[in-house]
Amino acid sequence: MDVHTNIPLKNYLTMKLGGAARFMTTATTPEELATACRNARAQAIPLFILGGGSNVVAKDEGFPGIIIRNRILGFEVIEDTATTTTIKIGAGEIWDEIVAKTVAMGLTGIEAMSAIPGTAGAAPVQNVGAYGQEIAETLIELEAYDTETDRFVRLQNADCGFSYRHSIFRGEAAGRYGIISITLRLFKAAPQPPFYTALQNYLDERSITLFTPSVIREAVIAIRTDKLPDPKLLPNTGSFFKNAIIEQWQLDDLRKTWPDIPAYELGEKQVKIPTGWLIEQVGLKGQLLHGMRIHDKNALVLINESAANYHDLAAARAEIIGKIRDTFRIQVEQEPLEL
Ligand code: EPU
Repeated sequence: MDVHTNIPLKNYLTMKLGGAARFMTTATTPEELATACRNARAQAIPLFILGGGSNVVAKDEGFPGIIIRNRILGFEVIEDTATTTTIKIGAGEIWDEIVAKTVAMGLTGIEAMSAIPGTAGAAPVQNVGAYGQEIAETLIELEAYDTETDRFVRLQNADCGFSYRHSIFRGEAAGRYGIISITLRLFKAAPQPPFYTALQNYLDERSITLFTPSVIREAVIAIRTDKLPDPKLLPNTGSFFKNAIIEQWQLDDLRKTWPDIPAYELGEKQVKIPTGWLIEQVGLKGQLLHGMRIHDKNALVLINESAANYHDLAAARAEIIGKIRDTFRIQVEQEPLEL
């Protein structure tokens, strides 16, 4: 296993900014991953396991420890019944290639999460979701290397603490586990309406009434291509902010001033407010702040157009968060992880 030193992180992150990693290595097997983690522990340096780099931003001072790039591959059907197929997937597999494969097998469960950049092992960390599906709905269990106990473990869905764009892997257990594989149970069935509004509208406009995993995948790819900038061409990390979760009473209060504020019921008197809408209302959609462009087709996305460094990104972020707080008294949070 080669270990490289002083590696510019911007070459490995789709936002294309940030300083250097002190060390970087690539793990292609669970044993290599464990060895790299043990070495980091022995040297008392921090470690970070990186997937595709599409949901991570790095600070200008860089990362003082070792970045382990997870390239553990694998795609194995481990159970096949009349109604379901259960597949174990290596954490280093490209997520969208997995979606494409399962769609080609006629399976439903992750087709609405088509064209999301990144790796399979990164998907549970932020409980990836799109167009009405999230990985928490199909993930049965995952295998991980536990850096605390120096053991390989299997965590069940309920152990992962999934909620909206969140799990223990970016919460209480951040940095503890190196994910090795994920096991998904997908269904031999047609995708079931009602679909997410944007998806339903797309299907209606084209009078599509026969719903197959492949039809949904193609529709999602078309919608995403139109709304989300390709990170290969325009550096970005997808949604840069989470949608805001607030209490129903706060919404009732806000509606006195903004009667049209969109909101989705979450139960337990909580509602989700699209942060893209908030950014639009404060007049920032399409604007350039400190070299960061607020995407004109979806204000949740920040594109690194000409930012010199992380400092610029942080300045743009502070302005956006501050304006929303001052106007709506809502505190919005960043979505990508931060090194
Ligand atoms: N909206 C605006 N202005 C905008 C953007 C959104 O008013 O500029 C409002 C509209 O009311 C719209 C609503 O937000 O109806 C929802 O917008 P959209 O369907 O585009 O989704 P989103 O909330 O912007 C979320 C996810 C995306 C995911 C889409 C589709 C988060 C943080 N983002 O975006 O995920 O693809 O839904 O399911 O939850 C990502 O996490 O990187 C990501 C791209």
